[in-house]
Amino acid sequence: MKVLVVGSGGREHALCLALSLDPAVTSLVCAPGNAGTADLAEPLPLDVSDPDAVADLAEAVHADLTIIGPEVPLVAGAADEVRARGLRCFGPSAAAARLEGSKAFAKDVMRAAGVPTAASRDHTEVEPALADLDEFGPPYVVKYDGLAAGKGVTVTTDRNAAVAAVRSCLRGPDDRVVIEEYLDGPEVSLFAIVTEAGTVVPLLPAQDHKRVGDGDTGPNTGGMGAYTPLPWAPRGLTPEVVRTVIQPTVDEMARRGTPFSGLLYAGLALTSRGLRVVEFNVRFGDPEVQAILALLSTPLTDVLSGRSAPVWQAGAAITVVIAAPGYPKSPKLGDPIIGLDAAGALTGVDVLHAGTRRDTDGRIVSSGGRVLCITAIGSHLESARGSAYEAVSRISLAGAHYRTDIGDPSRLRTATATDVPRGGTNRPESE
Ligand code: AMP
Ligand code: GLY
Repeated sequence: MKVLVVGSGGREHALCLALSLDPAVTSLVCAPGNAGTADLAEPLPLDVSDPDAVADLAEAVHADLTIIGPEVPLVAGAADEVRARGLRCFGPSAAAARLEGSKAFAKDVMRAAGVPTAASRDHTEVEPALADLDEFGPPYVVKYDGLAAGKGVTVTTDRNAAVAAVRSCLRGPDDRVVIEEYLDGPEVSLFAIVTEAGTVVPLLPAQDHKRVGDGDTGPNTGGMGAYTPLPWAPRGLTPEVVRTVIQPTVDEMARRGTPFSGLLYAGLALTSRGLRVVEFNVRFGDPEVQAILALLSTPLTDVLSGRSAPVWQAGAAITVVIAAPGYPKSPKLGDPIIGLDAAGALTGVDVLHAGTRRDTDGRIVSSGGRVLCITAIGSHLESARGSAYEAVSRISLAGAHYRTDIGDPSRLRTATATDVPRGGTNRPESE
């Protein structure tokens, strides 16, 4: 089978690695890819935001299966376009991808489906939004309604910062802002594969670390590191999420005539008042999937099609993101990365590339805010963590930064929404 993976981040490198180990996959293309995927998959240029270009490429390479990594092509309708050409595609239609493309739409679906989530209201005007800020009270949660690469949310106790966030979200005529109730408690990412027949297959729960700094400080990012499974998670969490969140959402989308298939990502907060959905995404989370796929022993294409239930290796997996200086605000790019082979030589370690490319001299240089995802497995979280950080220490990239507390046993439950970040108003920025 020939598989086309669309995207160029750490998630796509992890997908390519899993597909390269799948006996059914005989040929692999990753477009546009990065310097890491190029070792496993043929790299081809692609404007991922253009659904026609995605479908043209799937046709041109005779892809038996196209897997769309990022949300931008999904929300733009790339999966519809690939299927319209009679080709198989893993990913939701544009109509179903609105679960991620519009937070207001996702809230409407959750309300209709009875899915537990934070109380919220959305606005296109500043004044009523400010009135809601005061009604919900601090900590204030302000969200830009559209796609923002994980950085469109401000959580703050500072009213002035919340007001500034509202104003910054409502700069254009089509802009919409969501004001919502603050959710306390640890965050969990639970992904479920939803087949075209509507079968729901949950994967392992993972925990992301969204803020840039140790101890959950600084602005939100696309994600600075993750681990799986969660030794502290309540028993029965996964079936509870399937029963109360995933299945009702899948049923509601089918009822609306826009059935969901692909990967449904439930971002959850385990609050003092029970489980709540923070957000939906419609694709694999990055970097959570890097850790999750490291433990998958079933061929990935069998799991995606629903032919096989996933079987997981025992132990734990962790991924630590190395980011370019200045990320997430204004990453400095184009610097050489040293030590990749030494890091990858460690047992149980995969050096997954995100924002990397080869320059004209053949050197691997940084080309995106999140540069590398150092992924390691171990018999326990501590051993996986030790290997990952040992590998991180072997890599040098001028001015790079990473969190030192991913999977830290002393703060396992606290890498969460319970800590109010120091703020920062975030609008779409470069990954
Ligand atoms: P989102 O893009 O909606 O996932 O939000 C990004 C991050 O902002 C989440 O992972 C949380 O850490 C935080 N966040 C979002 N909504 C809330 C909320 N209602 N209460 C507390 N934290 C939140
Ligand atoms: N890691 C968070 C996301 O993929 O949205």
